[in-house]
Amino acid sequence: MGAPRGQFSSRIGFLMASTGSAVGLGNIWGFPTKVASNGGAAFVVVYLLLAFLLAYPALMAELTIGRHARSNMVQALRGISRGSTSYFFGSLAGFSGLLVAALILSFYAIVAGWMISHLASPVANLLGANDVAAWFTGDSIIRNLSFTAIFSGLTMLIIASGVEKGIERWSTLLMPTLLLLMFLLIAYVLTQDGAMTGLEVYLNPDFGQLSPQLLLSAMGQAFFSLSIGVGTMLIYGSYLSQQESLPRLGALVTLIDVGIAFTAGLLILPAMYVAQTSGTQIFAESGELIAGPGLILQVLPALFDNMGSIGLLVAIAFFALMVIASLTSSISMLEVPVAFTIENFGMRRKTATLLAGSIIFSISTLIIFNFEGLFGFIVSFSTEYGQPLLGIALCIFAGWIWRRDQLLAELKKGHKNIEHTLFWKIWPWYVRIVCPLLILAAFVQSVL
Ligand code: PFF
Repeated sequence: MGAPRGQFSSRIGFLMASTGSAVGLGNIWGFPTKVASNGGAAFVVVYLLLAFLLAYPALMAELTIGRHARSNMVQALRGISRGSTSYFFGSLAGFSGLLVAALILSFYAIVAGWMISHLASPVANLLGANDVAAWFTGDSIIRNLSFTAIFSGLTMLIIASGVEKGIERWSTLLMPTLLLLMFLLIAYVLTQDGAMTGLEVYLNPDFGQLSPQLLLSAMGQAFFSLSIGVGTMLIYGSYLSQQESLPRLGALVTLIDVGIAFTAGLLILPAMYVAQTSGTQIFAESGELIAGPGLILQVLPALFDNMGSIGLLVAIAFFALMVIASLTSSISMLEVPVAFTIENFGMRRKTATLLAGSIIFSISTLIIFNFEGLFGFIVSFSTEYGQPLLGIALCIFAGWIWRRDQLLAELKKGHKNIEHTLFWKIWPWYVRIVCPLLILAAFVQSVL
């Protein structure tokens, strides 16, 4: 077998890495725009409820299984299975997790590549290379391929350095930087004309818009944002010390993730209305706020352009924020197949990283060459189907298949009196019955 397993050196290290995984494009781009098109603060309230009622219990299942098994998702689910049928389904869910993590990373790396190119563009402008700057933001296959390759390379470099020296060190450096940039940007944007209108749209609840569709959208967002179902949180849990209380750390990760998503809304929505005040169109023809790539790649850059020379700095800060958020998430995705390859085949970390990273980059390349046909399909297959279904599988493994005494023993590590807490009174039943049924109901509705 290969080298001994890695481990986070401290609680803070784990928190930085796991919130780094959770906080990504989903928080800074996905959440605020969903809020804007789904009833403002009404969506925020529903999202908060679902994050704690559905995503947190599922997150706990991943963390607990991972720390108990001290291995990747395939071996962890096999390890807690109790017979050939559950062994088979454990393998199936584990391998599906690997596949879905790889697919999410393959499209995520393309979008993150756009973020790098939009970061490089104002830098090139500052240096007077205006043609190069224009090429960076123009849409071309070669531009997309180059920047996806750069982003994938960065992700691989960090993962090749291991758990403590790679994942933990970089997350601990990047997450505070992300927060600092976000607060600076919010402070600046809120002083601009039009910002208060955006704030009002964001914070004014329209409960009339509550609908099954909204619930579904909030659930999908919560699962994506907390990186659930594909084994990232499971593998991070497997690197966590046994002295830590899992329910407390899980709640903290959920709280920080939700808090940062909410804070990002204080930036994005006001920024859109500032852009409108300076003459940029922010509504699509359907009458809805522009939310897709048009928001980040056109509306906000137009706003930065209108700000004059300070706009270049604001653009650099904004896209640096996006790149950092993407990178701390992408490393958690790549760690899933890498940990499996190391633990299953005894491969060295560097070789495993190169292998898994290259395969995923090939999928990204395929998507870039067939963008219209593949991009949307892979996004919805992996996040709307893959993640909820795998979330159900993990709840079933934690609630039905894993022996209750082992589950309790794992939770007791780092939380001695867990048996007497509200958590232990509710969670085991909750994850066994309520969670799978609710996720299933939401899922069936979305398919219908
Ligand atoms: N949580 C990340 C975000 O909000 O952007 C996305 C993500 C990371 C999804 C890791 C899945 C995953 F395994």
